[in-house]
Amino acid sequence: MTALRNDALAGRHAIVTGGARGIGRAIARHYLAAGASVALWDVDAAVLLDTRQALAPLGTVAVEVVDVRDEAQIARAASQSQERFGGIDILVNNAGVLGPPVPAWEHTPAQWREVLDINLTGAWLCCRAIVPVMLARRRGRIVNIASVAGKEGNGLNAAYSASKAGLIALTKSLGKELASSGVLVNCITPSAADTEVFAAVPAEHREQLRTALLSRVPMGRFVEVDEVAAMAAWLASDDCSFSTGAVFDISGGRSMY
Ligand SMILES: NC(=O)c1ccc[n+]([C@@H]2O[C@H](COP(=O)([O-])OP(=O)(O)OC[C@H]3O[C@@H](n4cnc5c(N)ncnc54)[C@H](O)[C@@H]3O)[C@@H](O)[C@H]2O)c1
Repeated sequence: MTALRNDALAGRHAIVTGGARGIGRAIARHYLAAGASVALWDVDAAVLLDTRQALAPLGTVAVEVVDVRDEAQIARAASQSQERFGGIDILVNNAGVLGPPVPAWEHTPAQWREVLDINLTGAWLCCRAIVPVMLARRRGRIVNIASVAGKEGNGLNAAYSASKAGLIALTKSLGKELASSGVLVNCITPSAADTEVFAAVPAEHREQLRTALLSRVPMGRFVEVDEVAAMAAWLASDDCSFSTGAVFDISGGRSMY
């Protein structure tokens, strides 16, 4: 399934962080199907290569091993993308981790910082590197993949929820700062998708967590990665022209705001 016209992103170059698997990979597939070239930035070198091979028949796919916590790696990959594609039109801040399922006071400082560093500071570091490139051409689209957890604050998920609330606020601030620049910044707040993000949760808690997450979704199912990707494709296109700093819900009726 892809939603956009097959030329809606023709000639555009997109960076998708955390693009090796899951939601990021689905977003890359939708962008390619709409005519964009994509660069996937991820820490997982092996899966990146498999994904490049799988997506290559759809269009131009570059991969970079990038840890979004590392500004030097981001700067290197951003300049490689610019050189190769002559510009960057779309940035999707999608790389993310869930963190351990423990009460807020039981996170170690290292666990807390890791989740915030990847999910929030990592997205900010990518914006810091790429917004100037977009400003120079007076056009761009930034799509941040937040979560309903950032609106509601999930129990046993405080670091993750705080990081996603921060990402929502970053979207709003950046959206205001760039409103008249041609660069639009929006975020998506999905409810649970059945991806490998849950692999980090110990097996004995995983089923309990998935049942608890689904019980909060009035439509009673996981969101499909393609459903999130279709929204991310529209937000990256010229069809999205009068929305910035906005939060787009995709939660099967869970978060009606
Ligand atoms: N799956 C869900 O239920 C769900 C719900 C709402 C929001 N989200 C968000 O969607 C995004 C994608 O999640 P997913 O479910 O596809 O997860 P996933 O675990 O399947 O994929 C995440 C990707 O991010 C990469 N990554 C992790 N740390 C990184 C780092 N430091 N630098 C670069 N890449 C890194 C991983 O290698 C992986 O390929 C995340 O931000 C997640 O928080 C997921």
